[in-house]
Amino acid sequence: MAALGGLAAAALLLLLLLLLLAVGLYCCYVRHVHAKYDHIPGAPRESFLLGHLPIIWRMMEKQELIHDLFLQWSEKYGPVIRFNAFHRVSVMILSPEGVKEFLMSPQYPKDPLVYGRIFNMFGVRFLGNGLVTDRNYEHWHKQRKVMDPAFSRTYLIGLMETFNEKAEELMEKLEEKADGKKEFSMLTMMSRVTLDVIAKIAFGLELNALSDDRTPFPHAVTMIMKGMTEMRIPFVKYMPGKQKMIKEARESLRLLRRVGKECIDQRREAIQSGKEDTLDILTQILKGDALEETRDDENMLDNFVTFFVAGHETTANQLSFTVMALAQHPEIMERVQAEVDEVLGAKRDISYEDLGKLKYLSQVLKESLRLYPPVPGTVRWTEKENVIEGVRIPANTTVIFSTYIMGRMERYFEDPLTFNPDRFSKDAPKPYYSYFPFSLGPRSCIGQVFAQMEAKVVMAKLLQRFEFQLVPGQSFKLLDSGTLRPLDGVMCKLKPRSLPKGFQA
Ligand code: HEM
Repeated sequence: MAALGGLAAAALLLLLLLLLLAVGLYCCYVRHVHAKYDHIPGAPRESFLLGHLPIIWRMMEKQELIHDLFLQWSEKYGPVIRFNAFHRVSVMILSPEGVKEFLMSPQYPKDPLVYGRIFNMFGVRFLGNGLVTDRNYEHWHKQRKVMDPAFSRTYLIGLMETFNEKAEELMEKLEEKADGKKEFSMLTMMSRVTLDVIAKIAFGLELNALSDDRTPFPHAVTMIMKGMTEMRIPFVKYMPGKQKMIKEARESLRLLRRVGKECIDQRREAIQSGKEDTLDILTQILKGDALEETRDDENMLDNFVTFFVAGHETTANQLSFTVMALAQHPEIMERVQAEVDEVLGAKRDISYEDLGKLKYLSQVLKESLRLYPPVPGTVRWTEKENVIEGVRIPANTTVIFSTYIMGRMERYFEDPLTFNPDRFSKDAPKPYYSYFPFSLGPRSCIGQVFAQMEAKVVMAKLLQRFEFQLVPGQSFKLLDSGTLRPLDGVMCKLKPRSLPKGFQA
């Protein structure tokens, strides 16, 4: 018995020693990593092991935006800054030279850790190997080439009818609220209309989220977006208070993929029997799969989910931020409203040619993306050593790029915090490599033109029909939920404008 006890104590001691050795070795490794990166400027680490993480955690608790901290750091430490977390060091590059080098070339893949995290959501396949997350250049390139025709200019011009129709449905819903008293979230309304648009245009689905977003499918998309926000909280999977949300997010994702499967099967049949010849995103997804050696249903579903996620919230956020900025700047609102009146007059349906004439509105939308980019940046992985702004960046490093931060740096934009659409006038100097709300280079947004056509149609109709006011007392803070969105949802009150003679609703 005593011998057994002695053996157990010895085993425990050995285990403890091994543990101490492992901790010691890990600390040596962390020191080695520090030595490799400490020549890169950065704020002092708060802790040897945790690095800068405690600062981030404190900010997250207070719902503050970490990008604002990095903006302060960039002013203090320069355009290349280090960020430490345990044995990992990421480098933030806020210089046009760096943006050009890393984003314009296909040789730097997206970061495996950051994009790997959204392969699954709470254990259910989420964006998988879809177009946003695919890290294999050959495979991505094949997918992108097949998808391109659904975003060609000629095809997009044909979408004007749907943009008009869905925006008109939004106007009808807003008219019901436009008594100058009812308060509502502009973000919610914009999310519903952009969801209806992407569902119809990409997959031929009539969701009617504008009429009722409690129906299962739109609700599932809302829950998935919520899941995306929550999955950023460290250890959220283990928090008892979050289990209901996690269950709902998982079920919603399964529903989305199930509906995607039905859509794909139906469309495949329709194409085979010669009944379907639209060039929409769903058809392109099927064509892409036909090029593969083996049928890959999961990959097709990854793209189904990808287009729903990438193609609606981003535009909804841009639209809501634009409403917020305009309501805060009455003189700009007046000018853009005058342009809309001049171009559209009493017209109900907006043509592609009209969009080209709404030049100041384009500038307003661009300026909104400078201060409030729904996708704040992008992340790459470098396998070779680089020197940017005279700072050596070691091989095998995560490099982060932020249009949010660069868009607010005095170095690149005069009086950066002022909302001034004239920065984007025809004669103004172009912000090369310091403004990239749709990213740049080969992995830039495939939906950029689509999104800006949609945003212009919605904004033009809104400006033509309504006066809008912000409800006082809201914070106007930004929330980073994977995309940047207005924390308080842009609470508004609307009043109808007197419409030009001859307008027919
Ligand atoms: C204002 C609206 C939008 C903004 C600000 C935006 C922004 C972006 C950004 C910054 C990226 C690069 C992401 C990264 O590097 O990880 C991206 C990629 C992408 N976006 Fe958008 N986007 C918008 C609208 C749309 C729409 C409407 C669609 C679909 C119809 C779409 C589909 C995609 C896809 C599929 C990719 C991946 C492209 C690739 O890697 O080949 N986006 N978007």
